[in-house]
Amino acid sequence: MATYIVLLGPPGVGKGTQARILSETSKLAHVSSGDLFRENLKNETELGKLAKSFMDKGELVPDDVTISMIRDRISRPDCEAGAILDGFPRTPAQATALEDMLAEFGSEVNAVPYITAAESVLVERASGRWTCKAQGHIYHEKFNPPKQAGVCDIDGSEVYQREDDKVETVTKRIRVYFEQTMPLVEHYRTAGKLIEIDGTQPVEQVTKDLLAALKR
Ligand code: AP5
Ligand code: MG
Repeated sequence: MATYIVLLGPPGVGKGTQARILSETSKLAHVSSGDLFRENLKNETELGKLAKSFMDKGELVPDDVTISMIRDRISRPDCEAGAILDGFPRTPAQATALEDMLAEFGSEVNAVPYITAAESVLVERASGRWTCKAQGHIYHEKFNPPKQAGVCDIDGSEVYQREDDKVETVTKRIRVYFEQTMPLVEHYRTAGKLIEIDGTQPVEQVTKDLLAALKR
């Protein structure tokens, strides 16, 4: 049976950073809803134009388009063994849709690591983040700078600051997270799938805790 891991946590807590590492060690596909929207933005697709109007305000993209984008993505061959879902689901309707989708594949959500940190940590991380243009590799000006300023270590492309990483937008995204995504914490806790992870620690320690918890 395929394995599906949902990474839950507020904006800037380190979901993308950890998902990338977990995907490399587990060989499960990394599926990030935010990255998929940014890919559409870059390619100027209709979906990208629609998503941009919500993302720039720090609001969630409507459930119907988000759900069909994820359905399409996890139906691809590289997700046959399962996936690490980063940033999806983010609303109760998305969680229900995911459960229905996986049931169709004869699978389910296996574990939900819930990474947490105080709001001040989230704002500092998001506002100092630099993202690579080509493939979305993640850096931080203080905690994880690229070896050569402005250039991605992995693919040599330029790094940029996300439009929605301005302090006001990050603050709005955190508020939206508390209003719309927090109910999922109780949902997965009740289902016995939630694993709480202290996201304030250094990247390597968060990874260690994640791997140890997932083994159990
Ligand atoms: P999305 O791209 O998913 O953003 P997010 O959830 O707000 O999370 P981030 O990507 O900002 O943070 P992260 O947790 O991945 O942290 P990262 O590893 O980068 O969504 C963007 C927008 O798209 C949404 O606002 C919405 O509009 C739309 N959207 C996406 N999904 C949607 C959905 N399902 N439904 C509707 N709309 C949706 O790390 C952050 C920084 O901290 C980096 O600089 C990193 O280097 C650094 N860092 C990471 N870990 C550590 C550590 N342990 N110590 C020190 N620094 C660290
Ligand atoms: Mg991310």
